[in-house]
Amino acid sequence: MKVTVFGTGYVGLVTGTCLADVGHDVLCVDIDQKKVDNLNNGIIPIYEPGLESLVRDAVQNGLLHFTTDPKRAVDHGELQFIAVGTPSGEDGSADLQYVVAVAKTIGELMDGYKVVVNKSTVPVGTAEKVQAAITEQLSARKSSLAFDVVSNPEFLKEGAAVNDFMKPDRIVVGTDSEQAEKRLRELYAPFNRNHDRMVFMDVRSAELTKYAANAMLATKISFINEMANLAERLGADIEQVRNGIGADPRIGYHFIYPGCGYGGSCFPKDVKALINIAKGVDYSANLMEAVDRVNQAQKSRLVDYIHQHFGKDLNGKTFALWGLAFKPNTDDMREAPSRVLMEALWAAGAKVQAFDPVAMEETQHIYGLRDDLKLTGTKEAALEKADALVICTEWKNFRAPDFELLKRTLNAPVIFDGRNLYDPARLEEYGFEYYAVGRGK
Ligand code: UGA
Repeated sequence: MKVTVFGTGYVGLVTGTCLADVGHDVLCVDIDQKKVDNLNNGIIPIYEPGLESLVRDAVQNGLLHFTTDPKRAVDHGELQFIAVGTPSGEDGSADLQYVVAVAKTIGELMDGYKVVVNKSTVPVGTAEKVQAAITEQLSARKSSLAFDVVSNPEFLKEGAAVNDFMKPDRIVVGTDSEQAEKRLRELYAPFNRNHDRMVFMDVRSAELTKYAANAMLATKISFINEMANLAERLGADIEQVRNGIGADPRIGYHFIYPGCGYGGSCFPKDVKALINIAKGVDYSANLMEAVDRVNQAQKSRLVDYIHQHFGKDLNGKTFALWGLAFKPNTDDMREAPSRVLMEALWAAGAKVQAFDPVAMEETQHIYGLRDDLKLTGTKEAALEKADALVICTEWKNFRAPDFELLKRTLNAPVIFDGRNLYDPARLEEYGFEYYAVGRGK
């Protein structure tokens, strides 16, 4: 099938590439000429395992193209995906200007039936706005061309995006059009083998499903973090509690890992947007507000432990930091707990020596050159002459370090672990003072 994807950000690029990989003829559109040139040469702007080679193969096979030309884009696909950004406004509401601009372009340039597919995370009611924007353009042209607007939210995770797209748990489609349903079924048939993963529903329900999924997951994290904070005060161990509750299949083991808070481009933004959506219909989303509040506080937990250990003034102290990205397998620093930590350490007069397998360039980009931040080539180099080690991201190669070397290299054997990577009893044997989340000291 011929598919156009507007936006070559995370969602658009993964969607376009995976659709091309199974044989669809995909044209991706972006306004950034340099990005488009790079993509046509197989160079991708983000770090995502497995994606670059898929882009290269699909470009070579002639199934994936990139352009800045809106006319070519609208002509190309009967299916027109909108996967442009929806940044948060100051009040947390999603800014829809880019989505609406694409809708206008489609309405202005289309010359046959189109299925317009919303893939961006958008507030409930956006499909109607897209519909209205297209209709307005068509009536200005005195055209009565037919089109359908469909909501098809994306559930992929950064770092596992290709796999999530290729092997989806479910493919949610909101539409009231039989024609659109038929097209979407055909489009996703290659990803929908063995058992039917397609869930059709009305448009507004599909739009809310995306927020509900992320809100539920964020709630699980804030819940376990709250339990961790309680466990600490009650002399219990959250890791044992986690195992105990996870054994109940109604709760499950997944996504109840305590830590230094959730980050990324999705949970923080979507929880805030949902609070805002609720306000718009005179409802106060109390639970979501609490989830957000707990998470904000959780991002400072490591800073609390550090002050507990070293006192308020951290002048002259140096901290080794392992992990900058908001989670492993990505270089994404958006809303990363490491940022809250570093900024608090700097404010208290301390220096940071940080290592991350892929996010150091991004960190440099955000903070520039500064005396109190040193990015080191290895995780061991970050330890040199540091007063303690702090861990913010659970990269695989942080899991079994050489503890003897760690002890020898640090000024003092102190670890603040925001991801509960180690066994406290074992670390005590090694002679470390080990602070983890919800495990006592
Ligand atoms: C999230 C959702 O998991 C995806 O299903 C969704 O499609 C995506 O948002 C989106 O809306 O686009 P993502 O932000 O890539 O995906 O990352 P997650 O793996 O969900 O992790 C989010 C944050 O929660 C990370 O900071 C992670 O460290 C934290 N987390 C996760 C915990 O603190 N504890 C856990 O048990 C799980």
